[in-house]
Amino acid sequence: MQMRIRLSRWEDGVHKEDSTARLDRWATHESDSVDLEFVSKDASITLRLQQQPHMLARDMGVGSVLWDGAFVLSAYLFEMRKSYQGLRCIELGSGVGLVGLLLACMGAQVVMTDRPAVIPVLQGNIRQNCAHCAGTPEAQSLQWGVPGCLEQAAALTRQQPFGLIVASDCIYIDQVGQAPSTQHFLELCAVLCSKHTRALITFEARSDELRQAFVDGASATGFQVCRLDHQDRLPVMLQVDYIELYELRLIR
Ligand SMILES: C[S@@+](CC[C@H](N)C(=O)[O-])C[C@H]1O[C@@H](n2cnc3c(N)ncnc32)[C@H](O)[C@@H]1O
Repeated sequence: MQMRIRLSRWEDGVHKEDSTARLDRWATHESDSVDLEFVSKDASITLRLQQQPHMLARDMGVGSVLWDGAFVLSAYLFEMRKSYQGLRCIELGSGVGLVGLLLACMGAQVVMTDRPAVIPVLQGNIRQNCAHCAGTPEAQSLQWGVPGCLEQAAALTRQQPFGLIVASDCIYIDQVGQAPSTQHFLELCAVLCSKHTRALITFEARSDELRQAFVDGASATGFQVCRLDHQDRLPVMLQVDYIELYELRLIR
């Protein structure tokens, strides 16, 4: 497969557009919109995602732009191309929504979730791309670690169990040095899982401690944790060591 990325931004009143042949977080985070094309021998998917880079330091925070884990996870899902037709999926911490929208383009019914401040940009991107979707994307506020979130997750699961949970770059330490609780994230995943649910999670291995907290926390929450060897399946531009991909299945 191939992934083509075009970044657009305004600079001194001039609209600039560049394609990029490698992951470049700083260039991505300066852009107002990101165009992506996923191409294989027999399929191609195009998405345009609006970003809000000026909101990075405000309430919308890190959800206002795309992160490298989202490029990697969406490419992996495209490359694996099991049938997602009709599959009920949920994305946690969607941000601007790349992973969930890619799944919706491939036929999945996707509930895309994040903190309330991020929902407007997510809804805008769903509106902008829904014409390309064979499935159904929808946005919903769901915030791990706040009162009522586990009950909300249980209600979503009761409506219809999820086959797939996805999350990119939701395991990290924020600017003030407090991780958005990995344990709360894992507890939410556990409530969303049935014995047939698979969770695919990418994150930047920013430190050994972070990785260990995730792996230990997932095991303690009742998950079987498997690190996937995904790099060979991806285009060279996405074969980066700092993004790790894990599969979780609930075994307790
Ligand atoms: C680094 S961004 C990744 C965004 C997107 N998944 C991507 O890879 O481009 C982390 C995301 O997790 C969301 N997030 C952080 N803490 C959260 C919480 N407690 N509940 C729900 N979402 C949260 C942020 O709002 C943000 O969208």
